[in-house]
Amino acid sequence: MTELEGNFNNDATVIVHDSAEDLASAAVGDFVRRAEEAIGERGRFVVALAGGSTPIATYELLAKDARDSVDWSKVHVFFGDERTVPPDSEDSNFKMADDALLSHVSPASVHRMRGELDPARAAEEYERELSEFFGGERPVFDLIHLGIGDDGHTASLFPNTDALDVSDRIAVENRVEKLDTMRLTLTKETINAARAVVFLVAGEGKAGALEKILKSNADPHEFPSKLIRPAGGPVWMLDRAAASKLEAG
Ligand code: 6PG
Repeated sequence: MTELEGNFNNDATVIVHDSAEDLASAAVGDFVRRAEEAIGERGRFVVALAGGSTPIATYELLAKDARDSVDWSKVHVFFGDERTVPPDSEDSNFKMADDALLSHVSPASVHRMRGELDPARAAEEYERELSEFFGGERPVFDLIHLGIGDDGHTASLFPNTDALDVSDRIAVENRVEKLDTMRLTLTKETINAARAVVFLVAGEGKAGALEKILKSNADPHEFPSKLIRPAGGPVWMLDRAAASKLEAG
């Protein structure tokens, strides 16, 4: 594992692992450490899981190797985004996380975005659920996991979509023309309020987007992952293939 030196955008910390397996293993260690710290300090660990396929390796490893390393009775699970599909759909981020992790452990609570509902209603409902959970205060997650697409999107903050400019909402529905679909997503404001944001990115296919996000002055509307700037900067956990354009110097 190597921490890349470099003046990366948004004060990012960039850690490169030799393989996707090493990345998953490191991400498990990071999750366990952050859970222990949060539970020790605040009596609970509030995490938003990433969607897509990259996190599966991490979540399966967490269930297999670290089930007993986390006090799941103090862990509250939310999601960064969701597709507008029912929870039993193969496209559901909730189903991915449930199959890989949640069905193997017993978190204190799991709060899925209800993709089966009208998107505007589902977003409003999630905002209410988050507000209630955080006692009416602005939601501050202990950890938010994110992935990126090869177009530079993160969560369901896709290039040139309306959700990018929303600053007065916790979560919103978002029309994604290129996929001809509606998505549900936490807003950049909610993500940036987190105590820690960790991106999990693997594979050659993401190398181009990573270079744009971390090293260029590209417009964040074109590469929305550039909008993610939590205090202290985001942490990027990459495999060598994804980092190939960063290490080229
Ligand atoms: C989703 C995700 C999305 C994901 C990226 C990467 O709902 O698809 O939340 O932001 O993290 O699209 O997906 P992969 O890990 O499958 O490449």
